[in-house]
Amino acid sequence: MTKPIIAILGAGNIGQSIARGLLESKAFQAEQLILTKRRIGQLADFKALGVRILDNNPQAVSAADIIILAFKPHKIKAVLTEIDPYLKEDRHVLVSVATGVFLHEIRDILSDEVAVFRAMPNTAIAVRESMTCICGENANGGQEQMIIDLFNQLGIAIKIEEEHMDAATVLAACGIAYALRFVRANMQGGIEIGFDATDALNIASQTVKGAAALLIEGHQHPEDEIDKVTTPQGCTIAGLNEMEHRGFSSSLIKGIAASFQKIRSS
Ligand SMILES: NC(=O)c1ccc[n+]([C@@H]2O[C@H](COP(=O)([O-])OP(=O)(O)OC[C@H]3O[C@@H](n4cnc5c(N)ncnc54)[C@H](OP(=O)(O)O)[C@@H]3O)[C@@H](O)[C@H]2O)c1
Repeated sequence: MTKPIIAILGAGNIGQSIARGLLESKAFQAEQLILTKRRIGQLADFKALGVRILDNNPQAVSAADIIILAFKPHKIKAVLTEIDPYLKEDRHVLVSVATGVFLHEIRDILSDEVAVFRAMPNTAIAVRESMTCICGENANGGQEQMIIDLFNQLGIAIKIEEEHMDAATVLAACGIAYALRFVRANMQGGIEIGFDATDALNIASQTVKGAAALLIEGHQHPEDEIDKVTTPQGCTIAGLNEMEHRGFSSSLIKGIAASFQKIRSS
């Protein structure tokens, strides 16, 4: 499949972010994309770029190779039933980004043995910096690589087992909010020690970006990098230890566990 046609059905927030990211990556051209939603007037910007816009899901499926379902979870069953007659196992690959909809629930509705994936991106997909966790069923190695390659255009994608999808939702999707709250707290501290809000936000954001780059690009363990900035009896270790006395790591771990319990009980 040299130039697959990708249909994003239910192109709202996440669907449009995926579409925008794929176009910006230059790995996909506008004529390879089809977007659907009922209020197609909201997709005028994409239409102007040459993307095909439809309010008809079966028509989009018939014209595409990769189908991305970007609906709210409660819509998935009805749309799958609608498009099932048009899905063919020798042509289509299906990807659902709906939270909490299991692979077996999707496959139970399908008549053909279509390759099915679940992908859990986060909102940084809007700037092509998503962490996307992917699991699949009924797919061959080539199809699996094709879907990982696609989401690698939108950040970093890894394959995981489906049993870890809830944990991926917490660490990657909820994780964006945890990281942003960390930046906001830094910002508030920065204002208290003398910066205005704009400078405090810029300094805090770029510092967090730099710390992440040390780990991702430098392949370092966090504690190795912390050792480099903690001079004996210095100000960094004094601040860090004070944070730990007040439960910094513990509260973060407890928060992650609480999110996980919530997702598992809902
Ligand atoms: N936001 C996140 O951080 C995130 C992260 C990972 C996964 N997810 C998952 O992504 C999914 C989508 O979330 P979202 O925030 O993008 O939702 P959203 O903005 O509501 O997008 C869903 C879109 O589906 C369209 N739609 C509804 N019924 C339709 C139909 N029958 N045919 C065609 N289009 C239809 C709606 O547009 P019309 O009303 O105009 O049709 C709507 O714009 C959810 O399942 C969520 O769990 C979200």
